[in-house]
Amino acid sequence: MAHAMKPAGFQQTIRRAWLPVLAVALGLLPLTAAAAAPQPDPWWKYAVFYEIYPRSFQDSNGDGVGDLNGITRRLDYLESLGVDAIWITPFFPSPQVDFGYDISDYVAVDPQYGTLADFDRLVAEAQKHQIRVLVDMVLNHTSDQHPWFIDATRSRHSAAHDFYIWSNGLPDGSGKHRPPNNWTSLFGGSAWEYVPGIDQYYYHRFYRQQPDLNWRNPRVEHAMFEVMRFWLDRGVAGFRLDSVTSLYKDPQLRSAPPLGGRTSQGNAAVSDARTNNLPEVHALLRRMRSMVDHYPGNRVLLGETYVSSTAQLSPWYGGARHDELHLPMDTAFAFATRLDAREFRRRLTEAGTQLQGSQPLLLLDNHDRTRSWDRFGDGVHNADIAKVLATVLLTARSAVLLYQGEEIGQATATPVRVEDVRDPIGITGWPREKGRDGERTPMQWDNSPQAGFTVSTHPWLPVTPGYEKVNAQSERRDFDSVLNWHRKLIALRRNDPALRGGRLVLLDADNPRVLTYARVTPEGSGVLVSVNMSAQSQTITVSGNSAGLAGTRFRTLLSSPIDIDVAAGGRITLPAFGAWVGAVE
Ligand code: NOJ
Repeated sequence: MAHAMKPAGFQQTIRRAWLPVLAVALGLLPLTAAAAAPQPDPWWKYAVFYEIYPRSFQDSNGDGVGDLNGITRRLDYLESLGVDAIWITPFFPSPQVDFGYDISDYVAVDPQYGTLADFDRLVAEAQKHQIRVLVDMVLNHTSDQHPWFIDATRSRHSAAHDFYIWSNGLPDGSGKHRPPNNWTSLFGGSAWEYVPGIDQYYYHRFYRQQPDLNWRNPRVEHAMFEVMRFWLDRGVAGFRLDSVTSLYKDPQLRSAPPLGGRTSQGNAAVSDARTNNLPEVHALLRRMRSMVDHYPGNRVLLGETYVSSTAQLSPWYGGARHDELHLPMDTAFAFATRLDAREFRRRLTEAGTQLQGSQPLLLLDNHDRTRSWDRFGDGVHNADIAKVLATVLLTARSAVLLYQGEEIGQATATPVRVEDVRDPIGITGWPREKGRDGERTPMQWDNSPQAGFTVSTHPWLPVTPGYEKVNAQSERRDFDSVLNWHRKLIALRRNDPALRGGRLVLLDADNPRVLTYARVTPEGSGVLVSVNMSAQSQTITVSGNSAGLAGTRFRTLLSSPIDIDVAAGGRITLPAFGAWVGAVE
């Protein structure tokens, strides 16, 4: 894709942001004029972010595990897809109990993924492709092999002891003790682990090898902000903040109200009110935002923000002040399960009205969830359904997050035998919980052995069957592929002012099967989008009048299948899971 199609690059943005400041300094602009100059929208507002799970993206050294040089090798592909930024899940030194989410050194690269020099080269090369790089910041916990935790477990008086959350436990009546409360780990069992050497328990929200940090200790904040500066100074465009809602826990360690029922790991379900979403986190996020905003170039904070409704996301932006996360993920949207026009209409309405003017970040897939291909697919029309989903994702008013493989229609491949499972929760939870290997299988590049992911005969997870057909190379050659549909949508979104910044106006709002909306610029030009979320052909009449669009002629911009046409008067027939995007003129 030509560079000219891209919005201003990293350097340009930095230059633009500093230009008025410089002009004032040089006396070329009066202070008031510079202050009044309208600020261009930051790059992230309309960005397409692309999540890379580095273990499974591209292996460059034949060990069966993806690496940073592999990502560098695939930058041409990412540029041709049209993404603005990549978020790379953790590649820091780690015992890999949670495949990188257990970090033992925050300012280095795990040798199996490469070196710091490889990372610097990746950032520099990505910049040449007009792609920014975000890294994953795991602030909630470290690995139990991190030097802080090793020190913390040496003695109750060691320097780093208070970096973690400790309890002496409660007497159990037989001269011994038990954990201080009923908190459970999301990955199964009690959230408390006993350390005999110091006769104390530590808290872990995830695996016991992932002790939670104590954010009530200002030294933790100081140390972690230093880590973030290390990567910001290396040129990262921002962070995805892991488990950011759970940084603070109840200081009194009170037990959580039981919810009834069992978790997928077989534990009695308890409320997370004592360990998640505590109000203290917001002051921290304001300090973090201010630190990050001091860097030029509009660095960005994405948040892993599992909340149960879109409205609950607003505080994570800082509400009306907009001074916390730039883009918390709309996980409520991501949790849509049924391809139902009413449900998607509702979620788009919520994203448009409940965030106090903040920009939504919509997504459907990530490395922790069964892929949308399987969640929404009916086994017959999966490719068309994938195109319908991509259409909504990429034409709604939002920033977008895609997960590697989503753009080619990669399927989930959940292990069928427990002995093949690599994700520990799939081993302990089998067969009720089979883990997350299925959505982490290697990226399918071509139809060669191991799908072009590795030259090793032993990729760390097996390549998903069917890759001979479903792969980036063959889909690139097929005009009608899921990949090319994504490419066309992204190119359109990038170039069409209505699709970038225009208002979203829902149309035909009672239709249970067809989702239709307009995107309208302040000048009144616009685009209509109509997708059939059913397996039956649907005929509707489209009109932009009620959205304030004066035109009566419709020009098809994208259509799947290719031959959807609008008849006189706006009548349009959408076949099963058809998708149409058109300009109103
Ligand atoms: C969320 C990450 O996406 C997931 O993969 C990880 O296991 C947990 N946080 C713990 O870091």
